[in-house]
Amino acid sequence: MQVKGRLWNLFFLFSPEIFRLHLKEMSFEYFKYKGVNFSPGSYSEEALSFAENEFEVLDDDVYIVTYPKSGTNWMIEILSLLRTKGDPTWCNSLPIWLRSPWYETIEGQSQIKDVVTPRVLTSHLPCHIFAKSFFTSEAKIIYVMRNPKDILVSLFHFSKMLSLYKYPKSFAEFFEDFLQGNVLYNSWFDHVKGWMQMKQNSNFFFITYEELYKDLHKSVIKICEFLGKDLDDSQIDLVIKHSSFNAMKENKMSNYSLIPQDFMDQTKGSFMRKGIAGDWKNHFTVAQNEYFDAVYKEQMKELKMTFFWEQL
Ligand code: A3P
Repeated sequence: MQVKGRLWNLFFLFSPEIFRLHLKEMSFEYFKYKGVNFSPGSYSEEALSFAENEFEVLDDDVYIVTYPKSGTNWMIEILSLLRTKGDPTWCNSLPIWLRSPWYETIEGQSQIKDVVTPRVLTSHLPCHIFAKSFFTSEAKIIYVMRNPKDILVSLFHFSKMLSLYKYPKSFAEFFEDFLQGNVLYNSWFDHVKGWMQMKQNSNFFFITYEELYKDLHKSVIKICEFLGKDLDDSQIDLVIKHSSFNAMKENKMSNYSLIPQDFMDQTKGSFMRKGIAGDWKNHFTVAQNEYFDAVYKEQMKELKMTFFWEQL
């Protein structure tokens, strides 16, 4: 299993044959670290323990934290463009995962030494196992959330493509697994509830995919305010233009088309799939929607928060 992580680290050297050699032998189970499901493809006990206990957070770091499929890469693209004041050259020349590696993965940890400073790093970790050194630092977190119904749909399709994930047997089975938290990174509900404990902290900012989708201009201005970035109107317009769904879909440094097929099978779908809010309506039955709503209501009642997607 370790082999897969190391190969993933090498994929930008374009050696798909090596992948093919090993991945066809792969069938795997997730393993647990502090009760959370991880895939042996990109994670190890050691890498996770390092991320939690030893990783040195710098005061000027910014972390994009998300549950998968919440708009993680969209936020990476936005922050990349904020760094260059809207100039797309950097986004068009360096793969998105090298601009902002996942600091808890085996490959991410080997990539961090080459990350430009101040660093923007990415994470899918739940709050309770996030880097301990963050909580005594001045580093910032941008937590992106998305309507979990759309996450479920996006993740279902993505799980067919990415070898890191178990291949879903059926939508109905995946639906149940998602609601029970029997998926990579466990329950969406626990992820959100865990991170929302930070919502009053001045170094924590949260925004939803739906807000980005509805009004990217307003969202980018809010992000600039949180990060203390001062861009003029024409620079903001460039950020919006180059982080649009179509721009990212066209950009091979951001659309994951450079990844070897055996790791991300582009014949089974596209990373830049639909990029809309509300696609769940094309997938859920009436009964599934009612069941989801009941679980959502029960799980979220303790938060006493209204989320943007609930108002759409
Ligand atoms: P869909 O599968 O619903 O299309 P993540 O980066 O967290 O893995 O999230 C991926 C999801 O964000 C995908 O959703 C993808 O299409 C969407 N996405 C990525 N970039 C986007 C953009 N610029 N605008 C809108 N959606 C975007």
